[in-house]
Amino acid sequence: MSSTSPAPGQPSDNQLANKAQAWSALFSEPMSDLVKRYTSSVFFDKRLWAADIQGSLAHAEMLHAQGILAAHDLADIERGMAQIKSEIEAGQFDWQLDLEDVHLNIEARLTALVGLAGKRLHTGRSRNDQVATDVRLWLRGEIDELLLLLKALQTALVDVAEKNAETILPGFTHLQVAQPVAFGHHLLAYVEMFARDAERLADARRRVNRLPLGAAALAGTSYPLDRERVARTLGMEGVCQNSLDAVSDRDFAIEFSAAASLVMVHISRLSEELILWMSQSFGFIDIADRFCTGSSIMPQKKNPDVPELARGKTGRVVGHLMGLITLMKGQPLAYNKDNQEDKEPLFDTVDTLKDTLRIFAEMAGGITVKPEAMERAALKGYATATDLADYLVKKGLAFRDAHEIVAHAVKTAIASGVDLSQLPLAELQKFDARIGDDVFEVLSLRGSLNARNILGGTAPAQVRVQVARHRARLA
Ligand code: ARG
Repeated sequence: MSSTSPAPGQPSDNQLANKAQAWSALFSEPMSDLVKRYTSSVFFDKRLWAADIQGSLAHAEMLHAQGILAAHDLADIERGMAQIKSEIEAGQFDWQLDLEDVHLNIEARLTALVGLAGKRLHTGRSRNDQVATDVRLWLRGEIDELLLLLKALQTALVDVAEKNAETILPGFTHLQVAQPVAFGHHLLAYVEMFARDAERLADARRRVNRLPLGAAALAGTSYPLDRERVARTLGMEGVCQNSLDAVSDRDFAIEFSAAASLVMVHISRLSEELILWMSQSFGFIDIADRFCTGSSIMPQKKNPDVPELARGKTGRVVGHLMGLITLMKGQPLAYNKDNQEDKEPLFDTVDTLKDTLRIFAEMAGGITVKPEAMERAALKGYATATDLADYLVKKGLAFRDAHEIVAHAVKTAIASGVDLSQLPLAELQKFDARIGDDVFEVLSLRGSLNARNILGGTAPAQVRVQVARHRARLA
């Protein structure tokens, strides 16, 4: 292909191929190398290639249906795009910095392959509506993958929860032992979080899945395009109804990124617990060796690197949300080049989420639960004190009075270094004469657990109800 400038008044063979020299006949000097590097996006946005081709084919097919593009041009475009697709897949496509972005790289190659038809593809289109379409198509596919991964993680957690419907864990508030809970109940709390995350992503997908094409640069186009047809071809749920909005807003990306940040926040909370539970001071669980690393100096160490890293990567995903939302702020209508900066944070958010969800789904299945350690810890913190108060209320005391009486009982038990259940009945009766020997069932961890047999409560029977509900939902 010639890289020399065409004679004045003569269009070059492939104007895009000469873009390195000047944008169009209007420009009298080439772009500096520094500016070229600063403004180009091809080395990251080439990732959108499949969406770019998909969008172009839908556009070309519609141009033909509307009588704007001849059948042989459409055939040429389809043939050229098929070849480009195989070149890219084979790693043989020559991505050029000079051609700035994925859109111009593909279009230039198309024109090199099929000539005039390639030059006709951009009829009624701008890179502004093209890029917005590409990002939406790409993100839609990624959301679908993320939904599958979230489902796999939830299923893995439900599996462990089911096996631990009866396993007693000290439940904490303020990280102080509060009341016994079933370990399965605790894990199902995370299942609820991830279920809401999936709902949020699915909801955001509806707004991602709308078509900007036809907005052209900003004002719409004078060609009789059939935008609804393109939307149908691309499986989109509708058409963006205002051309200025269509090319300029990235709220769909911000919304996705906010939902993604919440996924990571939930992962991070779970990570923090896994790390605590695995520490020697808790010793509640063990994480399979393949998810841990050792220390180069301390031979005894086994570190929970995966949850630690996931907790760390949460900062990066939340950071991307801040980046995207700040990117949008202050942009006048319509398209501005600022928006090119949406891609790297989005790509990194998706990559981080996918890797993290995949690894967590696997890791959850590889957790060894240590029920004796959990139960021992639950026994240490007077976790059934509330149950004693409830017992006294059932015997006729007002809750506030019962609360006060139990506080005295706990004080005595602490002084003797025993659990409430280890105080002799005569001793307990000193606090209230109404206490009978049925109190010992109430004071047991298991009695406490079973007593909370209310919708959403921790009784093993309720945990099983929830497991069944999740299984049906995830099927
Ligand atoms: N690479 C650009 C982006 O990501 C494509 C759109 C460019 N449009 C323009 N008028 N310069 O936003």
